[in-house]
Amino acid sequence: MPTLETLITEAEIQSRIDQLAEAIRADYGESEILVVGVLKGSFLFLADLVRRLGQNLHVDFVQVSSYGDGVVSTGNIQIRKDLDINIAHRDVLIVEDIVDTGLTLHHLRELLGTRQPKSLKVVALLGKPDAYMEGTTIEYVGFEIPNRFVVGYGLDYAERYRNLSYIAVLTLDE
Ligand code: XMP
Ligand code: MG
Repeated sequence: MPTLETLITEAEIQSRIDQLAEAIRADYGESEILVVGVLKGSFLFLADLVRRLGQNLHVDFVQVSSYGDGVVSTGNIQIRKDLDINIAHRDVLIVEDIVDTGLTLHHLRELLGTRQPKSLKVVALLGKPDAYMEGTTIEYVGFEIPNRFVVGYGLDYAERYRNLSYIAVLTLDE
């Protein structure tokens, strides 16, 4: 049986999102933001974040695949669902659940960067600095966490646990 151990509580997540939203709004001012959620893991974070960013924004989603149902990165990134909105000349803010090696983000920045956005920034709820590859930059990070596999608040293990309101370390017993 897998075991869950709380790493970040619901209250901690919510108050950190208050701070992130404040920092983002301070940086963008009244400019319209095109918020791009990376499916599926970012869906709860995005929902909580955009409600704190005010009215001046649009939302779109992209879906990439890298991990399949397991816990190990294959390094293969595929676009499963592309954006609907043309991002040219827009201020684009990518919303990620978690940055592990940074490979997914690297590919996404490269892909979206070719489409002439006015600006391209990233907000990630979680980052695993010990796992980042060289050159990984994230403009806004909610929490830096140890290099453990976590679930909850959008993050899954084999599609389970996405609906938890908190983040937990998942341990698979031998
Ligand atoms: P990379 O290595 O490309 O990975 O930065 C980013 C994507 O991998 C998934 N990921 C996780 N999913 N718990 C999860 O449920 C984790 O601890 C974890 N670490 C990486 C996630 O989809 C992320 O977008
Ligand atoms: Mg996953």
